[in-house]
Amino acid sequence: MSFTARQLREGLGFGALVEDLDPEAMADEATRQALRDLWIDRGVVVFRGLPDDGDTQIALSRVFGKPARHPLKFAARQDTVDELVDIYYVPERGDIVRIGDGPSLGAWLPWHFDLVYVDRINHGGILRPVELPGSGGTTGFIDGLEAYNRLPEALRDEMEGLYVVYHFDADLAGLRYGNTPGIVLERMNASAMTVMSKRDDLPPVAHPLVFTQKETGRKVLNFSPWFSLGIEGMDRAGSDRILGEVLNVLIDEHHAHFHQWQPGDMVLWDNWRIVHCATGIPAEQRRHMQRTTIEGDYGLGRISDWAEQLEQA
Ligand SMILES: [Fe+2]
Repeated sequence: MSFTARQLREGLGFGALVEDLDPEAMADEATRQALRDLWIDRGVVVFRGLPDDGDTQIALSRVFGKPARHPLKFAARQDTVDELVDIYYVPERGDIVRIGDGPSLGAWLPWHFDLVYVDRINHGGILRPVELPGSGGTTGFIDGLEAYNRLPEALRDEMEGLYVVYHFDADLAGLRYGNTPGIVLERMNASAMTVMSKRDDLPPVAHPLVFTQKETGRKVLNFSPWFSLGIEGMDRAGSDRILGEVLNVLIDEHHAHFHQWQPGDMVLWDNWRIVHCATGIPAEQRRHMQRTTIEGDYGLGRISDWAEQLEQA
């Protein structure tokens, strides 16, 4: 084995830290398979000590799958895939939120899966900081697989076979489920407003509330608070009760890992089980991250026509 993996934190039920991967070994098939097995087993892998550049990030990402095109890149060229997506927050533009009496925050995102608002959810991604703020800016991760094991038995039974409906919504402060108390959206950035204007081009979709990880047979609590509208075929009160209970178990920060970024870190996550969030930075600071998108399809998402009833409820 050409690397060693350690726990991210004592007692944390997911995640791994790899600090000694030789970049040359990324070409070795046995190492590649061992890295893929680690990703599927632990859900989040923090790589430290690799060369701090986009080419290494792309090469590492390709160990886990092909690069995927982002479906919201409406204007992107159709013949290429930009393997690195830039995620900027600069004070001149960018979403700004405030929570209660707290300071204004940029680069803040609620708990979510990436691309849960389309039927084909990407399998994962790797994040790397390019420019870090002077303070703040951690990324939170919670494991839906570990969370499933914390659910009460009766709720697990009730969740079987249910689908949750999702629709794209750029409003960080208007979540139907899991909205942060006291949050105010002070400014929505221009590109989010553009995407919102094309929201009708993105049909609502449904994803199962529970599914079984193919490689291991383990069950995953599959719920993204951001973008969720409710349970397909169920009225508002029924959805609120079940998803409220689910949220209480899933979004428990005792079971979260909040990653404090260091230059050169590359963090891989399995987007089919890990919800993540961004805790924000002081609104006058800057942050620049780059992310790869790893292709895949778990085959369980589909377009849903239930959303109109949920959106009006
Ligand atoms: Fe994300």
